[in-house]
Amino acid sequence: MSVQTFPLTERIGTEVRGDVATMLTAETAGHLRKLLIERGVLVFKKAGFTDEQQVTLAGLMGTVRDEGENGVFKITLNKAEGNYALKGSFLWHMDGTHDDVPVFASLLSGKILSKVGGQTEFANSYQAYEELPEETKDRIGTLKVVHSVTHSMSQAGVSLDPATAAAAGRGDKVHNLVWTHESGRKSLVIGCHASHVVGMAMDEGRALIKELIAWATQPRFVYRHEWDVGDMLIWDNTGVLHRAEPYPEDSGRMMHRTTLVGEEAFA
Ligand code: OGA
Ligand code: MN
Repeated sequence: MSVQTFPLTERIGTEVRGDVATMLTAETAGHLRKLLIERGVLVFKKAGFTDEQQVTLAGLMGTVRDEGENGVFKITLNKAEGNYALKGSFLWHMDGTHDDVPVFASLLSGKILSKVGGQTEFANSYQAYEELPEETKDRIGTLKVVHSVTHSMSQAGVSLDPATAAAAGRGDKVHNLVWTHESGRKSLVIGCHASHVVGMAMDEGRALIKELIAWATQPRFVYRHEWDVGDMLIWDNTGVLHRAEPYPEDSGRMMHRTTLVGEEAFA
């Protein structure tokens, strides 16, 4: 094995150390993939992955999604190339709840950091489900939630018309609140995009969603990454929530992201 691994917290996050070039084998990538699903987040501190190495590792761990240039999408609020919708990433979220099959995982490299803010946090939504009181599990087990990009953007202070969202393939979707994965493990499908609960009064559903997000993001389920340039992170989007600490639009922050296509539909 060409890597060494060290748990970062009890419930989420493992640091991976080793020489990048020797990591890029099917055997190591297969090992990392398993570890990712077990631990939610993998952290490669100051590993200095080039774009090409990042895409190579991604391709060995799954199927690279066609976004950005040659598999690398730039995460930045910079005026010229920035995407205003990224302001939604300042709130706890999962990626791709507007799809039936959400993206599996993302690899994110820190290229230019913000002087203030811009750290990234992850919360283990498998473990958060697991540790819920049994009566809560019984109460929420069959509930369905409407996920809305318009709702998440409005909380981020960005107004987005539902028809525009739908036309961009980002219309509302209904998912089970508790996702039973093919593995048999269960996780919570929540985040700033979770608008309301089907068949429940609006404010009651919103209060429940708020309560579950607060539960799942308690310190014991969270890993907070303080970035150095050259760090690379991978998160299992199907079993963690994540958010970026707010950073100024003109901070220059630039991250390179490679995303793996989803393999399992919400269920
Ligand atoms: C993302 C995301 C967080 C960050 O790329 O999906 O939420 O810290 N990024 O930039
Ligand atoms: Mn995100």
